[in-house]
Amino acid sequence: MIIAIDGPAASGKGTLARRLAVHYGLPHLDTGLLYRAVGSAALARAIPFDDADALGRIAAGLDVAALDPEALKAGPVGEAASRVAAVPQVRAALLRLQQDFARQPGGAVLDGRDIATVIAPDAQVKIFVTASPEVRAERRYREFAGRGDTASYDEVLADIRRRDERDSGRASAPLVRAPDAVLLDNSALDRDQSWQAALAIVEAKRRETGSAT
Ligand code: CDP
Repeated sequence: MIIAIDGPAASGKGTLARRLAVHYGLPHLDTGLLYRAVGSAALARAIPFDDADALGRIAAGLDVAALDPEALKAGPVGEAASRVAAVPQVRAALLRLQQDFARQPGGAVLDGRDIATVIAPDAQVKIFVTASPEVRAERRYREFAGRGDTASYDEVLADIRRRDERDSGRASAPLVRAPDAVLLDNSALDRDQSWQAALAIVEAKRRETGSAT
């Protein structure tokens, strides 16, 4: 069973994807980390965001086993990730890796922006997770504060709105709900309610498709 989870920044898709992976005993790929790694390398090497070929080379040479999720979750890296993610050469270089992960025997859980539309259009389960920008900013603000990051709520909200706009407006694999994805708006749900809602969606799909996994 392939489970595709897409959604905007801080919608809770990563938490749901991780939990679904554990629940069903499936491997999980947070595809945002790939774009974050390219963005982080571009910042470190001072590569301009319009140097598509150089960014594509970074993506092609990415050592996925060496990614450091903690360091990559820092605020400025999210903005850089969103910039490099709009570059077609970067997306092309990361495509095969993600498709191979999705198609491994037994299936997988992947979360990102284009999983249901580009990476695994054949996924049995597609969930589009979202929440209002204000709710997402509040969650991300708390997450950052918990790690000692000093970004204000207003800065976090502005970053989220900017990234939403760029991710949805780009020509290459924009953030969009696949027509056959189930919408999960968790603006008014707490973590456990959101988990129960996601689980219900997957279970309904499994009954529908008679999935053995
Ligand atoms: O956790 P958060 O939602 O803030 O970000 P993320 O999922 O780690 O993704 C960081 C950035 O990578 C996003 O703003 C997107 O621009 C990009 N991304 C993408 O374009 N396609 C994906 N499948 C995953 C992430």
